[in-house]
Amino acid sequence: MAHILITSGPTRQYLDPVRYLTNASSGRMGKALAEAALHLGHQVTVVSGPVEVVYPREARVIHVLTTLEMMDAATEIFANADGLIGAAAPCDYMPKKVEASKLSKTGNGLQLELIETPDIVATLGANKQPRQWVVGFALETDDVRFRAIVKMSKKCCDMIVSNRAEAMNAATNSVEIIYKDGRVLEQIDGPKSEVAHGILRWIEQCLINA
Ligand code: C5P
Repeated sequence: MAHILITSGPTRQYLDPVRYLTNASSGRMGKALAEAALHLGHQVTVVSGPVEVVYPREARVIHVLTTLEMMDAATEIFANADGLIGAAAPCDYMPKKVEASKLSKTGNGLQLELIETPDIVATLGANKQPRQWVVGFALETDDVRFRAIVKMSKKCCDMIVSNRAEAMNAATNSVEIIYKDGRVLEQIDGPKSEVAHGILRWIEQCLINA
């Protein structure tokens, strides 16, 4: 039995108390991965941004809003976990300054200065212990497999799940599961639950029981 940390859903980056940047991630892939991991008898902790999906009761769920909050929670949980599946879509940018009061319209438009957020998978991947493993996701529109392999290496992942933009907020997914040695382990097309079971089967075979 492994303790698996799953990051899931989008994050939010507030500009002021009422406005924020986010993306269309639904948390469905994270939910399906949690269900598949629990089904195989693993312990699951989900660190999730704001989503409507309901995670399985048997999973411990930590709710966060921003990418920095997701990073802090994931870092703390990962210290006592065997592996991470980074299925979240954290915002890559945050406003340099968050206004304490609601911004008022001036008639002149608004210039935002954004700075990059830290990459959770890359940070945990770079600092993982030899006993730990990290699985990332790569969502691409062009050169899908090549870019996924580059991302896997840059983020120190042991395996990467490559998918396309159509996966966002959808019930189905079409993925390639790629191992760190460059092998395409499997191509799966289907409901996210089927994709999740396939991913967990390979994680067990190559990373947990290896
Ligand atoms: O670079 P890109 O966002 O396509 O990488 C996707 C992978 O990186 C996913 O596993 C996602 O969860 C992770 N990621 C992250 N922290 C970020 C951005 C992406 O963990 N700030």
